[in-house]
Amino acid sequence: MFLIASDHGGLPMKERIVSCLRQRGIEVLDFGTNNGDSVDYPDFGEKVARAISRGEADKGILVCGTGIGMSIVANKFPGVRAALIWDDFTAQMAKEHNNANIVVLGGRVQSPEAACRMIGIWLDGVFEGGRHQQRLDKIARIEKDLMAGKL
Ligand code: RB5
Repeated sequence: MFLIASDHGGLPMKERIVSCLRQRGIEVLDFGTNNGDSVDYPDFGEKVARAISRGEADKGILVCGTGIGMSIVANKFPGVRAALIWDDFTAQMAKEHNNANIVVLGGRVQSPEAACRMIGIWLDGVFEGGRHQQRLDKIARIEKDLMAGKL
């Protein structure tokens, strides 16, 4: 199960991504927004990131105008590794090196066609583990300390 959300700046791209995923036979749960009215991206980023953080789903996609705001929100949540991707290479690295469980896109920065292609690269990629797992373990340790109040 895939989770997806956007603000108004990412809405057209989100709609295209949902149809690309469904064409691939992937079930998608869309948390909105679903019209062009101006909304606050944290309200939508939070829905996807919280569910991933709780283990209710294992992959998500967030879209805002630039991808920046959604990235900031999503990475507040423990266990979330949200990667802002902007080309095929960053899509590939988001999986192979970062094992990103959320990818973030900028609806005002890339085309919807490029977004579908990049998401395909991320989905088809394989996490390399090894030294990259070691780095993710360090991030998990930082999260653990922060949650224990050790700033
Ligand atoms: C909304 O105008 C815009 O600020 C938002 O979509 C996003 O780009 C924020 O990072």
